[in-house]
Formats: sequence, structure tokens, C-alpha cells
Amino acid sequence: MRTQVCIIGGGPSGVLLSQLLHQAGIDSVVLERRPREHVLARIRAGVLEWGTVEMLRKAGAGARMDAEGFIHAGTYLSAQNRGFRIDFEGLTGKRVMVYGQTEVTRDLYDVREKSGGAIIDRAEGVQPHGLDTEAPFVTYVRDGETQRVDCDFVAGCDGFHGISRQSIPDSVLRTYEKVYPFGWLGVLSETPPAHEELIYANHERGFALCSMRNKMLSRYYIQVPLDHKVEDWPDQAFWDELRRRIPADAAETLVTGPSIEKSIAPLRSFVAEPMRWGRLFLVGDAAHIVPPTGAKGLNLAVSDVHYLHEGLRAHYLDKDDEGIERYSERALARVWHSERFSWQMTTLLHRFPDQGAFGQKVQESELAYLEMSRAARTALAENYVGLPF
Ligand code: APR
Ligand code: PHB
Repeated sequence: MRTQVCIIGGGPSGVLLSQLLHQAGIDSVVLERRPREHVLARIRAGVLEWGTVEMLRKAGAGARMDAEGFIHAGTYLSAQNRGFRIDFEGLTGKRVMVYGQTEVTRDLYDVREKSGGAIIDRAEGVQPHGLDTEAPFVTYVRDGETQRVDCDFVAGCDGFHGISRQSIPDSVLRTYEKVYPFGWLGVLSETPPAHEELIYANHERGFALCSMRNKMLSRYYIQVPLDHKVEDWPDQAFWDELRRRIPADAAETLVTGPSIEKSIAPLRSFVAEPMRWGRLFLVGDAAHIVPPTGAKGLNLAVSDVHYLHEGLRAHYLDKDDEGIERYSERALARVWHSERFSWQMTTLLHRFPDQGAFGQKVQESELAYLEMSRAARTALAENYVGLPF
């Protein structure tokens, strides 16, 4: 098989890139190792920057988001059970869309398959070759048969555990990592949300977050030690702990119910540089990971796709290579802004084992400063709603 761009990974990055390339008349093939239904069943975060909203609409994948998503003009932060609001719209003129990323992936699959896209699932043993030549190719095995895709470029959209980043020589690749000493225990429940906007809660017992998917589907998280297991947290224990950590008014009106999904996720900051090597481009989680506190995971993947799609479009349509030559530099500039913001929100809102009473007081003072200072709230708001592409 021959194509112009071989995309490894059929998550949001890979399928959005394939769809935007298709709209520019550029051929691509998506190789996904998991079955389609596995990819579409993943539970993921739910806050979209407005740049992401506009990119999904541009790709033709925005109809259900516009019909079912919630537009939020602000969010709440709280310290020791007392909350205050960050007015995104009043401070920046921008808002965010709350819409499950699981749904985003489903919408992208639908639009790509409607436009005749080739998303090959159950592609095992995917292996890029010749990335430092002018004739790269990718091999994979499906139903026991080895296949080969000859291409001009390879987009590594295969997430943190993918093959693409590993294909960059150690002598070239630089990585930066911070692993946090706690995890997020997440619960999905068919209950009305605790509040009409999200609540990020700092508490001396640990962080908590109240989010939602729709009017009768809520998503909650509490910080837990790394050695905790889901079975350590029966539903009632989770609800009791959540109530201890969130603002008193939200705790009083919280509607609880049986968890329909419960899982613990670790938190990590990670960046791989460069995001291009020869004919390989790293995109999304293949190149960077952020702790979910800033809700940046999918949004960063979308900005990578924006830069790469623009660069490939200029290459093929205008014979202009500046975009692909500067892809890594441009993408990483925005990646590091989001890494910094996600680290800052995580550091501000979580209880660190070694922070002590002084550290807790400093966090509470920073939250009090945010509440009193429009300048501080504006800085947080413009990062949360998303810096320009
Ligand atoms: N070969 C083929 N496919 C692979 C391989 C491989 N060797 N390794 C991983 N994959 C697939 C995974 O099965 C997954 O479907 O690549 C896809 C990567 O998708 P994500 O991990 O969701 O990463 P990305 O598309 O960059 O999405 C970025 O979107 O869903 C949000 O918050 C989430 O941060 C994430 C963001
Ligand atoms: C979610 O709804 O899952 C969510 C929202 C905001 C975050 C993280 C997760 O910062």
C-alpha cells in the first residue's frame, strides 16, 4: 500500500489529523493496534479549549459537541471548603466546552469513516522504517499477514506507550519528566452534577474535583496515595471523602449514587524533544503528558495537529517546507506553556507528602491571592481557556 502520510495511532490525535489532511486532499492511513470498540470505550477528561472546539467544527466533527456539550464561562476553586469563581469570559472574553473526550473520539471516527478514511484497527507489531531516508515505510501484522505502507511522512500519534518515540535515536531524543506522589481516584455516576460549573478543591486532606458529562452524568475525582487500589474505596467511602474536601454548600446538595466506573490514574508531567526526526513527527501523548489538573491532554494534542496539518498542507500544496521544518519548535513552545500551567495547578491544589503545615498555608495564601487579585485570576484564566495556537 502507498499513502502520503502514515499515521500510527487511532486516538484523537491520529484521527483528527487524518480528517484534516483529507480535507486538504492529502492521503493518509491510520494504523491502530487496538480494536475500534476498545478505543471508543476509553473514559477520558472532558474540558475543551475554544481552539479545540473550532478545530473539531472545522473537521466536521462538532455537531454532537454543539448539541450536547456544555459551554462554561468560568470555574470554581476552593480552599478548606470555601469556594470562589474564576470568570473566564469576564477576564479573557473566552469560554470552554465541557464534552467528554470519549465522545470527541467517537465523533472523529464517525466523520472520518463517513469521508472514506482508512482506519485499520488490530494492526499489530507496527514498526516504522527508514525515518531518516526519503522513502520511509511502516510494517504491521493484521490477521497474521504482514503488511507494508510506503509513505512520505510518518505521524506518531500512538500515545505515551507507543512505538514512535522509541524510534528516535537515544543520541537525538531528550526527555523531561516529573512523576507526582499521588493519583486520582475517579468515579462516574448517573447523578446530577454537584454544581453548574467545575469545582477544583484544595483541602488539607487532599485535592478533589467535581466535573460532569451531562445533566445526569457526573464525574468526580479525589487525590489518593499511590499505593491505594480501587477496592480500597467502596462508593460510600468515596462520597464521604469527597464531601469532606469540596465547598460546604456543594457538599450539602451533593447527589450521590452507585459508581458506574471507578479507576485510579497516576499523574505525570513528561515532554520528549524534538517532536520531529527525519520523516517522523510526534503528535499528542506520544510527545508529552500533562497531569489532568489543567485539562490540557487532548487540547495539546489538537494544537500539535494544527501545526502539523498546516505544515503538511503547505508542503504538498505550496511546496513550502517552513511549517514542517519548524513544527517541533512551534509545537513545543505551546507544549511547555501547558506543561507549566498543569504543573502549577497541580502544585497549587494537591496535598504533597512533604509539604507540611507551612506548605499548606502557602497554598491557602496563593488561593486567597487569586480570590483578591484580578491580575492573578486573569493569568490563570487565559491559560485555562487556552493560549493562542
Ligand atoms: N501501534 C498502533 N497503535 C498504537 C500503538 C502502536 N504501537 N501504541 C499505541 N497505539 C494507539 C493506542 O491504542 C491509542 O488508541 O495509539 C492511540 C493513542 O491515543 P491516545 O493515547 O488517546 O493519545 P492521543 O491521540 O495523542 O490523545 C491525546 O487525548 O483522549 C485524550 O487526554 C487524552 O491525553 C490524551 C489526548
Ligand atoms: C473531567 O471531566 O474528567 C475533567 C475535567 C477537568 C479536569 C480533569 C478532568 O481538569
